[in-house]
Amino acid sequence: MEFIVKSGNPEKQRTACVVVGIFEPRRLSAAAEQLDKASDGFISSLIRRGDMEGIAGQTLLLYNIPNTLSDRVLLVGCGKERDFDINEYHKVIVNATNALNDGGSMEAVYYLPELNIKGRAIEWKITQAIIAAKNALYHYDHTKSKSTPPRRPLRKVVLSIPSRRELTSSEQAVKTGLAIANGMALSKELGNLPGNICTPTYLAEQAIELAKDCPKLSTEILEESDMEKLGMGALLSVSRGSRQPAKLIVMKYDGGEQDQKPVIFVGKGLTFDAGGISIKPSAAMDEMKYDMCGSAGVFGAMRACIDLELPINFIGVIPSSENMPDGDANKPGDVVTSMSGQTIEILNTDAEGRLILCDALTYCEQFEPAVIVDMATLTGACVIALGKHAHGLFSNHNPLAHDLLNAGKTIGDRAWEMPLWEEYQEQLKSNFADMANIGGREAGAVTAACFLSRYAKKFRWAHLDIAGTAWISGGSNKGSTGRPVPLLVQFLLDRIANKK
Ligand code: BES
Ligand code: MN
Ligand code: ZN
Repeated sequence: MEFIVKSGNPEKQRTACVVVGIFEPRRLSAAAEQLDKASDGFISSLIRRGDMEGIAGQTLLLYNIPNTLSDRVLLVGCGKERDFDINEYHKVIVNATNALNDGGSMEAVYYLPELNIKGRAIEWKITQAIIAAKNALYHYDHTKSKSTPPRRPLRKVVLSIPSRRELTSSEQAVKTGLAIANGMALSKELGNLPGNICTPTYLAEQAIELAKDCPKLSTEILEESDMEKLGMGALLSVSRGSRQPAKLIVMKYDGGEQDQKPVIFVGKGLTFDAGGISIKPSAAMDEMKYDMCGSAGVFGAMRACIDLELPINFIGVIPSSENMPDGDANKPGDVVTSMSGQTIEILNTDAEGRLILCDALTYCEQFEPAVIVDMATLTGACVIALGKHAHGLFSNHNPLAHDLLNAGKTIGDRAWEMPLWEEYQEQLKSNFADMANIGGREAGAVTAACFLSRYAKKFRWAHLDIAGTAWISGGSNKGSTGRPVPLLVQFLLDRIANKK
């Protein structure tokens, strides 16, 4: 699908459909007003008859509007103007896009970026419109025997901007929006794939595939034998119970100066989490195919970084494994030695994410990172604490936490900081090893982060627990969300803008 930006009058657009907003109750947006004037009150008289209240979610498709050049006009309800914010804006774009895609208009001019949102510039609204529209049109059919594309799909969207002065910056905003949306689409696709297709080997192949596109990207895949040599006893212990070999995927993107320290994103790539010997209950266990969404976030951010040709050194590291019950699997009470030399008593084999991540973090020391951000569907406790709206954020470096929080606010993919206090570390005490892999019922998301922090002492580090945000659970819209790709890309863009 193609997106372009343009400025011009709505009545003069020779297009299949012009899209304008209506606020509640029955109040015309500026573009709707313009159409109304050109058509001698056609829209306002129709609205007076009660066909369109302007309630958020409403759409009304009109034909043959006098004195206008477009085939159709789509009115989209925007709710109360006072309450119009990022969420409403997204809904409006999604509703309009779905209506057009199902309705037969193959191209359209959206007068929606002109709607006012407090504190947000036109460029931001352009980027968000593209993210929302592409998200609306994402459709999973990889494992369906028949795909059912719409008869006349929406192919081209023109986003209208108020003045030509903003053209250049808006065109850049289109690029940013497309890169984020494409990164999210890749992340969603990987997340939605079933565990029998999306294995550690499959993820490794995806990394090699990405590198084919881009000379600045080199990929290295570490096999179990390599991990053995490095002493990755924690990661390997998780994979021992699985028939699928573990992979440690390293993607190096060299876009910055040679001496610039890299930003590293580490993503949990657990392609199916049955829990191991501490097996999970069977209800909704299928959703543990999403336990690789941290890695999907890293892939999505890398995709966007390549598309935007970002001038930055950026490394993606993905420890990937399954967690299965087996005669050779980890047993509760087993003690393993991590690459760092620290020993771990595995009291619950279902707390496996931290076991594969800790060795990946130690592996990253050699790169002398500027910062490391890991992301993982790490704990059910984080879902209880924050639900599906905010990622849990933990960090050993305040400015880094601050940058991530801000990036999330800017792009609308928010995180919320949780404590990483010394007091919580006590819960990880073990009688038989340097630490246990679980910290009891209390503050489960915090003790998981505390565990990781013991492997992140040598660098500036943050951890995103995305267990509640990476996919939508159960129900008819079950599926991957593509988060935290927007936050990650915005974080990289901010670093580049601030020359960090
Ligand atoms: N992948 C899960 C976390 C998870 C659970 C994410 C449910 C989303 C929904 C992780 O590996 C896990 O099993 N964590 C355990 C840790 C516990 C044993 C300390 C959990 O959260 O129950
Ligand atoms: Mn688990
Ligand atoms: Zn897991």
